[in-house]
Parts: sequence; structure tokens; C-alpha cells
Amino acid sequence: MITTLATDSLPLTEYQRLPADELFRRTAAAKRALGNRVMVLGHNYQRDEVIEHADFRGDSLLLAKLAAQHADRPNIVFCGVHFMAETADILSRSGQTVILPDMAAGCSMADMAAIEQVDQCWDMLGRILPVEEAVLPIVYVNSAAVLKAFCGEHGGLTCTSSNARAIVEWAWQRREKILFFPDEHLGRNTANRMGLPREEMIVWDPSQPNGGQRREAIHRAKLILWKGHCSVHQMFQPAHVEYFRKQYPGLQVIVHPECHEDVVNKADIVGSTELIIRTVKAAPAGTSWAVGTELNLVNRLKREEADKKVFFLSSTVCQCATMYRIDGPHLCWAMENLAQGQVVNRIVVPDDEKTWAKTALDRMMALS
Ligand code: 13P
Ligand code: SF4
Repeated sequence: MITTLATDSLPLTEYQRLPADELFRRTAAAKRALGNRVMVLGHNYQRDEVIEHADFRGDSLLLAKLAAQHADRPNIVFCGVHFMAETADILSRSGQTVILPDMAAGCSMADMAAIEQVDQCWDMLGRILPVEEAVLPIVYVNSAAVLKAFCGEHGGLTCTSSNARAIVEWAWQRREKILFFPDEHLGRNTANRMGLPREEMIVWDPSQPNGGQRREAIHRAKLILWKGHCSVHQMFQPAHVEYFRKQYPGLQVIVHPECHEDVVNKADIVGSTELIIRTVKAAPAGTSWAVGTELNLVNRLKREEADKKVFFLSSTVCQCATMYRIDGPHLCWAMENLAQGQVVNRIVVPDDEKTWAKTALDRMMALS
């Protein structure tokens, strides 16, 4: 029994009434009481009130690696979104428990591809091509575990925003075509950088027969991009880049590859959330940056890098509404329950999905 906790854990609604300083103190106490029995992972988009309790923070690749490496921690409290917690569960050893403080923390992009649609796409492609030999499926980690399993089973693998190019290169060495889902922008931006001609990329619209494509286009394509996107990153526009360049001569633009190609092509640097943070932190004092990714990350950079000018590359608020679901009350509730031996919001990937999903993730990890 833990004696250092302020009180017994309460229903979640009670935590939502607690002031921020009390939530901080109680979460920190629960974490101290748990000691090495817990590891708190925080994605770079998390709110300050959450990230300050994280043992590690990072992009989705780094957090996946950390989950795989820390077999000694019986509990992983994942402050991120559902697909990240699923990935941690797949990569952790059996007996480790993964907790997502709010089950509503999903990812709207991940929801843009359902297994039934991907199966249907594969069947449709199979009526036009020898699909198993000709097409290698790559799924962005922003996806449900069942889609990772699909890729594992069909000789494919996962990718993240930081290793997409290496994964795409690997795939083209093995098969003539790639089916890339669910983010068309990450796929297109990666292929653009590799010099793939436009006529060899097509977009598969899952709501249309044959993805809305003619047979000849499917035969010609080397890259079949799923019609999916991130609602946060699609808010950035080329006009935002032009505005900042005009206002601040010498300013550099750094964006996430989930942005539209018209924005990416105008940026100076493109990369994962981790690369964005590392680059701005390493830049000399006095430099100016316009950053095209989620707002919490940018606001934190702004505060932490006060000797530089850091701007958010948009005039409208671009917060990831689902990442935002994890807040101080949910984290405190999950941690205090855990400290008292109760697991709330456990993420469990079913065994039949886990095996092939792990194959897809392991193939990626070997290339990262
Ligand atoms: P990173 O892997 O770059 O952290 O990106 C994850 C994500 O969801 C970006 O929207
Ligand atoms: Fe998903 Fe976009 Fe949020 Fe990233 S920012 S978790 S892709 S909705």
C-alpha cells in the first residue's frame, strides 16, 4: 500500500475539479511512489501539464524504441494517442501493461483507413495485377494495429515520419509498386524527394470503385497513395510561408512531412517532431523560425528558445484535438489508480493482430 499519496483515488470527475497545482503535486507523488514500476512516455505534442511528468519525450519512432527497450518497467503510461499506445503494447514484452490516460485520445488520420477498406483495395488491385508479387504495403504508424498486421502478413512494414525514405527505398528494392496508407502527404513528400515522376503516383480513394483509378494508371503507378490526411497539418498553406518570409528576411521555415506538398516544397527543412525540436534548439541565437506543426510543440519551443524568434506557421489555431485529450486530471487519475494497484484504460492489442503487427514494426526497426 502506498502511503505517500494525498488521498485515495477519486472518480475521474473529481480530478477534473482539482486545481492545477494539486494535480501536479499528486501526480508527482504517485510517480515517486511507483518508482521503477512505471515509465511515463510523452509525445512532443502533449500539453505542458502532462509532459512535465514524462520520463522521456519524443517523436513516435523514439517513443516506440523506448517502449521496446524498457522491459524492466512493468507499466508504461503513454501520454500520446491510441496508435502510439498500441505500438508500445506490441513492442513491449508480455506482462508489461500499457495505459492511455484517456481512451478518447485517437488520431483522425488513423481513422481514415479501416481494415475492410484496405482489404477491399488489395482485392481490387489483385484483379488488375499479381498483387502479392507486385505491391508492397507500407503503413504509417499513425494507424490501427490491425493495419500494421495487414502489412506484416503481406510482406510489408510500418514507417514513421523520420524513417519514411529508408522504408520506401527498401520497399522499391523488393517490389515494383508501393501501397502507402493512410497519409497521402507523407507518401507524396517522400517520393518527391526521391525524384519519382508525378505520373507514377496515383491517389486511391477508398470510396470509389478501383480507388477512382483507371486500369492503365494503376499499371503505370509505382506509388499508390491512400486518400488520407492529418486535419492539423493540412491547415498550413503556402501563403503562410510567403507571409513569414516577407516579414522576416532570413527566417527559416521548418515543417512536418504531413503538410501538403505545396507547403513542404517551400520549406527549408522537413522532418519529424523530434527533428524539428533538435534543429531549432541547435540553431544559433538570433535566428528566426516559422514552424509548421502542432501548436503545443511550437509554443513550448518558443518559450524554451527565447534567444531565437520562433513563430507558429499559421494564423489559425492548429492544435491536435485528440492529443489534447490527455490532460492533468486524466494523468493524475491514471497514476493514482496505478499506485494503488488498479489499472485503468489498459491498451491491449489482441494476440491475432499482435504477431503480424510486430513483424511489420520489427522490419521497420531493423531499418531505423
Ligand atoms: P512524429 O512521429 O513526427 O512525432 O509525428 C507523429 C504525428 O502524429 C504527427 O502528427
Ligand atoms: Fe493524428 Fe494529426 Fe494529431 Fe498527429 S497531429 S496525432 S496525425 S490528428
